[in-house]
Amino acid sequence: MRKKIVAGNWKMNLDYNEGLSLFSEIVNMVKDEVTGQQQAVVCSPFIHLYSLAQLAKGHDKVAVGAQNINDHEAGAYTGETSAKMVKSTGAAYVILGHSERRQYFGEDNKLLAVKTDVALKNGLKPIFCIGETLDEREAEQHFDVIKTQLQEGVFHLSTEEFSQTVLAYEPVWAIGTGKTATAEQAQEIHAFIREQVANNYTQEVADNTTILYGGSANPKNAPELFAQPDIDGGLIGGASLKSRDFLDIVKVFN
Ligand code: PGA
Repeated sequence: MRKKIVAGNWKMNLDYNEGLSLFSEIVNMVKDEVTGQQQAVVCSPFIHLYSLAQLAKGHDKVAVGAQNINDHEAGAYTGETSAKMVKSTGAAYVILGHSERRQYFGEDNKLLAVKTDVALKNGLKPIFCIGETLDEREAEQHFDVIKTQLQEGVFHLSTEEFSQTVLAYEPVWAIGTGKTATAEQAQEIHAFIREQVANNYTQEVADNTTILYGGSANPKNAPELFAQPDIDGGLIGGASLKSRDFLDIVKVFN
């Protein structure tokens, strides 16, 4: 059975102490309140990773991830952070292909395919984001956009590599806008994504792939979203900065 995951994406928020104190609260709440098999993942800025991983030690329901890595293994890339460095902090995941990285840092599918390879080679599980912009949806190109993002970003992976990868559908028009995709809209795309995985790999691989929804998810709308057959959890931005809200979303799977 595929894993249920609720991943927080802190983005560029929280200084070192603020991050540690939020994460301590999360670990304690997970310990006391999470009774299901789901995993809570917190994707923080690099500066927090090692300390959060220390706090997460011994708690199998909590894991830590980064929000980016460089596409090179090592070398003269001033200011960059490699997959190996991230892995050495104790982090298990890395978000790749987030729409903010695509939009503000010019990351395209070709670069993201390389980052995915580098992440997997260094033992990090990619949380690979895909999703259409508002213009693309209005032009009814969303299925094509998502198909291309999958084909160019992750479908070159071997079955074994792909099975380490989590997908996240994040319609760009729903990120940080308070405008969530309806449960039906999200389910339609998630089913389409799973079908693409089945076509490229096998039905069994598709059935085992965790596909998260992201975009203004909150404790109120998460129950309906997560009740959809092909939605296996969420990638949570704004609401992951409040321990109570984040935990209430994690607890949808209790
Ligand atoms: P949001 O962000 O929940 O604040 O919309 C989601 C994301 O960017 O991953």
